[in-house]
Amino acid sequence: MSTRKPLVVVTRKLPDAIETRMMELFEARLNADDRALTREELVAAVAKAEVLVPTVTDRIDKDVLAAAGPQLKLIASFGTGVDHVDLAAAQTRGIVVTNTPGVLTDDTADMAMALILAVARRIGAGETLARSGEWRGWSPTSMLGTRLTGKRLGVVGMGRIGQAVARRARAFGLSIHYHNRKRVYPDVEGALEATYWESLDQMLARMDVISVNCPHTPATYHLLSGRRIKLIKPGAILVNTSRGEVIDEAALAQALASGTLGGAGLDVYEHEPAIHRKLLEADNVVLLPHMGSATLEGRLAMGERVIINIKTWVDGHRPPDRVIEQLL
Ligand code: 8YV
Repeated sequence: MSTRKPLVVVTRKLPDAIETRMMELFEARLNADDRALTREELVAAVAKAEVLVPTVTDRIDKDVLAAAGPQLKLIASFGTGVDHVDLAAAQTRGIVVTNTPGVLTDDTADMAMALILAVARRIGAGETLARSGEWRGWSPTSMLGTRLTGKRLGVVGMGRIGQAVARRARAFGLSIHYHNRKRVYPDVEGALEATYWESLDQMLARMDVISVNCPHTPATYHLLSGRRIKLIKPGAILVNTSRGEVIDEAALAQALASGTLGGAGLDVYEHEPAIHRKLLEADNVVLLPHMGSATLEGRLAMGERVIINIKTWVDGHRPPDRVIEQLL
């Protein structure tokens, strides 16, 4: 086991327990005030770091990587999605990229389910009314939402998180449909009694609720394009806990404003932290600030995976969560 301490630059404030362990194991440079690094600061960081620990708020594109010194060998990202890192440029430069898969599956799926419930049962509007002082008491026709039991859920992206959403949704009486690059194993499909749709277009037209759970890659950018949003069954609910870029946000805002979509629950946006003005104005949407994996347990587990990835690399082994291998 190596006792060498590599220079590890951590771009955001992480839980205390994780930072303390990193200080023990590595020559760690922490970000005490948690301000996202500017592009110049990122360039300065990759110029000297041996390991960079970025998050979704750092854009590690090819220009930033071009400024990396030869000592930068590992980007141990804190999070599952890696669309903020130019993987091809990293690979060309011989830089290994790792992520933290698996440890935020349940938290993210919980949030997807919470959004489905919140939109279908108008929890946001109800909460606002209860606090407003305007509530005039119970009425048979007020605050009517949509029953979930007996409805169809279409999962776009049936990976770990998509499957975890499907398991939860079944307990709420939804039947499971999905679209995925590859059909999932028969035992997974069987356990969920799930229906596979090779054609996303055909699935979208028939679902009452749609949950987006695929990663953002060049192939999934605007997967839910304006054309596809128009195919969605009128009145359906769309929930996104993946990445904003998977949906054409302007087209979605338009569909919500015109009332063709029943509602949307969004945790992620195309231009975070900006949110499309029409979404902010729409009353049939529930908007959250990218908090799908925001549990203390989740953040600790993410930090532990980052440490494992760095430590195995320091010890001369292949870090377990190498992204390129996950994509093959
Ligand atoms: C993380 C996420 O909090 O892991 C992901 O892909 O979207 C988030 O839940 C964030 O990415 C941390 O970098």
